[in-house]
Amino acid sequence: MFKELNAATAKPTIWSEYTADVLWTDRHIAEQMLAYHLNPEIDAASRSTGFISDSVSWLVSEFDLDEGSKTIDFGCGPGLYTQRFKDAGIGTVVGLDFSENSISYAQQKAKASNLAIEYHLGNYLEYSDPRTFDLITLVMCDLCALSPSQRFTLFAKFKSILKPEGVIALDVYTESRFTDLTEDLNVEKNAMNGFWSQEEYWCIKSSFTYDSDLVALDKYVIYEEQREWEIYNWLQHFTVEMLDTELDPHGLEVQTSYNDLRGTPLADGSEMAVIISHA
Ligand SMILES: C[S@@+](CC[C@H](N)C(=O)[O-])C[C@H]1O[C@@H](n2cnc3c(N)ncnc32)[C@H](O)[C@@H]1O
Repeated sequence: MFKELNAATAKPTIWSEYTADVLWTDRHIAEQMLAYHLNPEIDAASRSTGFISDSVSWLVSEFDLDEGSKTIDFGCGPGLYTQRFKDAGIGTVVGLDFSENSISYAQQKAKASNLAIEYHLGNYLEYSDPRTFDLITLVMCDLCALSPSQRFTLFAKFKSILKPEGVIALDVYTESRFTDLTEDLNVEKNAMNGFWSQEEYWCIKSSFTYDSDLVALDKYVIYEEQREWEIYNWLQHFTVEMLDTELDPHGLEVQTSYNDLRGTPLADGSEMAVIISHA
C-alpha cells in the first residue's frame, strides 16, 4: 500500500503521458462532457451560449467573412461555433473532432437545421486538407492541453492550410493564471459526482506545477473494483512572447491580442485570445 500510494502521487516528468483521448472518447466520460457542452449557463467544456454567439459575430465582422469564405474549427465539439458560422452565411464550414458523441450530435443538429456543414471524426493532429482557409479556430484554451511537440505539429498544419490573408483565432491560459496555482493532493470516493465511471471508485487527484515551464498537471488515479487507470490533464500557460517563439519557425506570428475571442481589449486575467497570421 505504501509503495502504491507513493507511485500514485509521484510527480511525473513533464509531458510524459497523454490521455486526452480517453477524456473525450471514453463512452461514460464523453456523455458527461457532452452534457457540459450543451449546458448554456456554464463555461465548463464550452463557453456560455451568449459568449459563443458574440464571439462568432465578432469574428465574422472583424475578418469580413461571407459566402465566399472558408472556416475550419479544430476540436469543434458538438458544433456550437460551426453551426453559428454557417447560420451567419459562411460558404464553407468544416469541424474536426475525435469525440464520436460530439460529432454525431453536431451532424444531427446540422441535418435538422438543413445546414451544409462538413464534419470529420478523427484526431486533428493527423488531419490533412488540400484547401486553404480564411479562418482557423481552436477555442476553449484547447492549445494548452497539447505538448510542445503536438503544438509544433499543429502549427505546421495551420501554416499549410491558411490562406495568404487568412487568420488563426485561438485562446490560451495566461502566466497570471499559473501564478495563482498551488500543488495539492486529494482523495475522494466517487469524486466529481461519478464523473469518471458508472461503477463505484476511489480517486486520488494530485495537482502539480512545473514553474520554469508554466505548466500545470492534474493527475487522477482511479481505482475501481475491476480496474485501475490514470488521467493526465496538462495545461500549458502562455505569454504572447512564448506563443511568438513557437510560431516563428512556422512563419506565423501573433498579429493582435485580446482578452477573449469577442474582441474585448487585453487586460490582466486568467485567459487571453490571439489572432495569428502569416509573418
Ligand atoms: C474543451 S472542448 C471544446 C469544444 C469546442 N471548441 C467548444 O468550445 O464548444 C475540446 C474539444 O476538442 C476535442 N479534441 C481535443 N483534442 C483533440 C484531437 N487531438 N483531435 C480531435 N479533437 C480533439 C475534444 O473531443 C473536445 O470536443
